[in-house]
Amino acid sequence: MNGRDRTTARELAHRHLEAGDPLGWFEDLYLLAGEDSSIIPWADLKPNPSLVEWLRQNGSVVSGPALKVGSGLGDDAEEMARTGLQTTAFDISESAIARAKARFPKSSVSYVVADLFSAPNDWQGRFSFVLESYTLQVLPQYLRAETVRRIASFVAPGGTLLVIARGREPDEPEGEMPWPVTKQELSLFLTRGLNEISFEDYIDKEEPPVRRFRAAYIRPK
Ligand SMILES: C[S@@+](CC[C@H](N)C(=O)[O-])C[C@H]1O[C@@H](n2cnc3c(N)ncnc32)[C@H](O)[C@@H]1O
Repeated sequence: MNGRDRTTARELAHRHLEAGDPLGWFEDLYLLAGEDSSIIPWADLKPNPSLVEWLRQNGSVVSGPALKVGSGLGDDAEEMARTGLQTTAFDISESAIARAKARFPKSSVSYVVADLFSAPNDWQGRFSFVLESYTLQVLPQYLRAETVRRIASFVAPGGTLLVIARGREPDEPEGEMPWPVTKQELSLFLTRGLNEISFEDYIDKEEPPVRRFRAAYIRPK
């Protein structure tokens, strides 16, 4: 996410959270945006630079069926497919999936409308590479342990999970959406049968610069 206006997204998120519906605002936002993505704070219309860099450095170690969690307008999924991964990408928002398909009509990516919390059973343990970029940080804290459990469950034995998120210390204020994650929250992946293979804590090159965590995990065979 860059320095664009988050007013509409924050208002929608706030309204839905107040109503006890933490997931309803995504479809509302994409629907409202239509073909104009300027009100979608994370819609950079290009692959996440932290993903591009990681794949450049580690792409040779990942192959086979891959899954993008919360695929939005499709740029990260397309980048995964470009590097040769047989990619499935899902998002809870029907409008986001429709837009991704329209943007990439010749894509090899299989775009699916699905809710992480009720994803198809046959996705369990099926993917050799799973990417989670920026979804955890737009879900409230009370959903994160379950989100971690669900994401981890998609990783096949021997498979890799890459997580990219805004980072903060536990004693720093959570702020407004997006709500950065803590290292403690990410350590929950280790309680779900995954081993950490790398953990990077860095300031990215966005304007203004943002503290990021980029962590890679493997499920032992
Ligand atoms: C912050 S956006 C990031 C999108 C994309 N990764 C990017 O960086 O452009 C998070 C995405 O997760 C989706 N999402 C949120 N909750 C979800 C859920 N429970 N199941 C599937 N997708 C979800 C949202 O619709 C949104 O597209």
